[in-house]
Amino acid sequence: MWCGLVGPAVGELRPEPEADDLLVEATLRPRNLREFIGQARVREQLELVLEGARRRGDPPDHILLSGPPGLGKTSLSLIVATEMGAAIRMTSGPALERAGDLASILTTLMPGEVLFIDEIHRIARPAEELLYLAMEDFRVDVMVGKGPGATSIPLDINPFTLVGATTRSGSLTGPLRDRFGFTAHMEFYEPDELELVLRRAAPILGVDLRRDGAEEIAGRSRGTPRIANRLLRRVRDFAEVRADGAVTRQVARDALAVYDVDELGLDRLDRAVLSALVRSFGGGPVGVSTLAVAVGEEAGTVEEVCEPYLVRAGMLARTPRGRVATAAAWAHLGIAAPPDVTPGGPSALF
Ligand SMILES: Nc1ncnc2c1ncn2[C@@H]1O[C@H](COP(=O)(O)OP(=O)(O)OP(=O)(O)O)[C@@H](O)[C@H]1O
Ligand SMILES: [Mg+2]
Repeated sequence: MWCGLVGPAVGELRPEPEADDLLVEATLRPRNLREFIGQARVREQLELVLEGARRRGDPPDHILLSGPPGLGKTSLSLIVATEMGAAIRMTSGPALERAGDLASILTTLMPGEVLFIDEIHRIARPAEELLYLAMEDFRVDVMVGKGPGATSIPLDINPFTLVGATTRSGSLTGPLRDRFGFTAHMEFYEPDELELVLRRAAPILGVDLRRDGAEEIAGRSRGTPRIANRLLRRVRDFAEVRADGAVTRQVARDALAVYDVDELGLDRLDRAVLSALVRSFGGGPVGVSTLAVAVGEEAGTVEEVCEPYLVRAGMLARTPRGRVATAAAWAHLGIAAPPDVTPGGPSALF
């Protein structure tokens, strides 16, 4: 039986923001589309959406940004407002519990204002229904009174642009998804793009980052700018305390070894998931909730945070019968794979 390699306390390298990220991220965020590195396709599409709207003098269509944590969704929403010279109001799905909360925001939006709703897949149903009419006709029905005497009064609101962000676009209802005029799917970044992210962040953070050091950190950042910037800060600590302050390849390697980031950028939780899959479940297929219990994490975290990168790295396959370790996963763990390991996985176990 697999014996716990890891508990839930592996926070330092997860892609979700942490307290110290929140402060630093404000200074590191790209401020306009030109400073926004990578995502060439999304950038080109978005440029067209914004330029078209600018020429017509209208607010841009509603925009949905989907993708794993830390890839730049919040940054891009701020950029939409900056590029349009518009104000932005920021809220999140879980904060909009009652339709009234959303109605009071919608009815006070300035013309052309951007309304950013983070984690939009978690919006409560009544608020979501209010959003349909607001997005489509710039109108809200405000309920006045209670019980049988309640009436709804239609109110016109100023034209605005909704920017929604989600790590689970599959959880959005059809009617909501259909009301976005443009959906941007954010992809993991290539190492050379992450190198640019790091080289941009280094002078802002005052780090003496050498070219080979940037290359080393970029290759281990799980395709995620937030992680790249965070690793840079951890490597800086190491460079200042145990070396002469310069971040070279060797310093980066030594530092990342301390933080348990391997040469593929997999952290302890990623490796725990692979290890459980291979060692306890013979490579799968196994359901995601069983896998999550085995590593002491919530199924949602394994699904939204670990799996996208493991799939992208070719280590894990999602099949209709469950998660399966690929031959590359066995090789990465240094364990000989049974002869029947294919992307479809061994069928004998389940
Ligand atoms: N394209 C980029 N160029 C430069 N830096 C970037 C880019 N994308 C993201 N970053 C950096 O990564 C940090 C995290 O990005 P952001 O907060 O926009 O991610 P997110 O997709 O909103 O994450 P979450 O899903 O957790 O809300 C930013 O503060 C910024 O420093
Ligand atoms: Mg965000």
